[in-house]
Amino acid sequence: MCGIVGYVGHSAGRVNAGHSALDVVLEGLRRLEYRGYDSAGVAVVSEGSIESRKKSGKLSNLLAELEAHPLPETFTGIGHTRWATHGGPTDQNAHPHLSDGGKLALIHNGIIENFAELKLELVAKGYAFESETDTEVAAVLLGDIFRNKLGGVASDGGLSKAMQLACQRLEGAFTLLAVHADQPDVVVAARRNSPLVVGLGDGENFLGSDVSGFIDYTRRAVELGQDQIVTITADTVEITDFYGAPAEGKEYHVDWDPESAEKGGFPSFMEKEIHDQPDAVLQTLLGRSDINGKLTLDELRIDPQLLKNVDKIIVLACGTSAYAGQVAKYAIEHWCRIATEVELSHEFRYRDPIVDENTLIVSISQSGETMDTLMAVRYAKEQGAKTVSICNTNGSTIPRESDAVLYTHAGPEIAVASTKAFLAQITAAYLLGLYLAQLRGNKFQGEIKDILADLNKIPAKIQRILDNEAQIKELGVSMADAKSVLFLGRHVGFPVAMEGALKLKELAYIHAEGFAAGELKHGPIALIEEGQPVFVVVPSPRGRDSLHAKVVSNIQEVRARGAKTIVIAEEGDEAVKAYAEHVFYIPETPVLLAPLLSTVPLQIFALALASAKGYDVDQPRNLAKSVTVE
Ligand code: F6R
Repeated sequence: MCGIVGYVGHSAGRVNAGHSALDVVLEGLRRLEYRGYDSAGVAVVSEGSIESRKKSGKLSNLLAELEAHPLPETFTGIGHTRWATHGGPTDQNAHPHLSDGGKLALIHNGIIENFAELKLELVAKGYAFESETDTEVAAVLLGDIFRNKLGGVASDGGLSKAMQLACQRLEGAFTLLAVHADQPDVVVAARRNSPLVVGLGDGENFLGSDVSGFIDYTRRAVELGQDQIVTITADTVEITDFYGAPAEGKEYHVDWDPESAEKGGFPSFMEKEIHDQPDAVLQTLLGRSDINGKLTLDELRIDPQLLKNVDKIIVLACGTSAYAGQVAKYAIEHWCRIATEVELSHEFRYRDPIVDENTLIVSISQSGETMDTLMAVRYAKEQGAKTVSICNTNGSTIPRESDAVLYTHAGPEIAVASTKAFLAQITAAYLLGLYLAQLRGNKFQGEIKDILADLNKIPAKIQRILDNEAQIKELGVSMADAKSVLFLGRHVGFPVAMEGALKLKELAYIHAEGFAAGELKHGPIALIEEGQPVFVVVPSPRGRDSLHAKVVSNIQEVRARGAKTIVIAEEGDEAVKAYAEHVFYIPETPVLLAPLLSTVPLQIFALALASAKGYDVDQPRNLAKSVTVE
């Protein structure tokens, strides 16, 4: 889950002289910092030597270090932002790691599973290690192969060859980038189970964990396959497999503009992304149905007959994405009459799940790189299941390894806590459910058009909630001292309650718990004491009568025990007023679609409360945007 950037341009004095490597790499790291911020480091190649600076903590610490100890202007460089796995977030454990007498620098994203065994081997050869990282083991291994096995001739492809041989020895997940002082115009990179994209420039080329690493310089990107090595110079990009056989990358155009990755005038990315939600839902709906209300999911390239035969759906996801899956379960089961389970990816493959060729796996992942989900999808594929990925990141690993993908078009989500991707995931899952219902031609067919019409009204309804956000923000600020907040919901309101609690935990670092409202009486009600804040997500009174009435009873139960109740209810639901200290109204919408609206006030509340506490809402402590380890 680290961020990685590499750059090679032509040296100064040439007609198409490149940019300063340091400038490109630092700009890339700035955009990639969301991937991890335990430390940052850079290495540039100058006049036969490697110059490197690295610092624990955020990128700003590295910038201060560079101010105090500047690097020379060069045209080849690599940079890294770290989310610590092996070894704490210290200066020493920061990347790059050097080897071959300081002439080789290497950065890494992922985990090298056999690093301990390799380290023993290298120690026996007389190498000493300065850090606790698996990365340094890879650096020393690469340096050893380059120097002792290949004779240390960099200029004639030696570094690429050494990378091939090193990768043949490595197990686990890794993206590696290396530079060598003796080959100053080359960056060599490798990937296995970890992201890496090439950016094509004019007389310069780039590498990044994702396209935001170089989006300021080029829109032409190349997607790499699994177990590949890429060697870039200013004019060339060469791809091979780990055994040197030539391979082809797939070029594509990046249509995210750089500004969409910026804050757009909001104090934080998270606030901007909450406000992006009408568009995120709209973009995800666009082009996926025709004017007759027929779904046209052309990208879902699985034989329709196979989809018709599906007798079970298993949704695999983690965290917020798993809550999107739980919402989807209610809708898919209701619309398609297919039994749907939702399972946390990391639990799935360890319990001998029942999966066969009639099982449809729907993985949901914003990043498309979550290792737990990737491994679960691979396992399901091995059992013969068909796999569909709902993903926000084009070209990432999970969709690439799935049989089909339904991209959410939420745009880049920079804040670590997921907001707009969540709503886009729910939207995409609804489309998938409706498509399956359409395909199976069940009796529900006639309603699809109406549901699509309701879905198309959602963006404007989210906007109305955002236009009236002041009241919920005020409440968030006023509750900055809260020690614990509970969230209750029933039916689709239950995953919304859990998502509301997760947002508060991760942003404001306070105890928060989401419960199924009906479960209260089975234990959690013991938590209620005088003044305990309890959010209640109330279903529409126009839905099933009993559901609304039951949740209202639950509000009364907690209130009778001293809880301070804060209610999210549908406009016109006057009945709840009598039982709530605060009511936040959301526009009317069919019950199954309500999570697209009821989640929004909870996001705003968590953001306001955490901001009032002075916390960094974009980069909460201990978290990373893309969790690429199991
Ligand atoms: C919470 C959050 C995480 C992610 C989870 C899965 O705000 O963002 O819980 O939802 O780590 O990530 P993806 O969706 O990238 O697989």
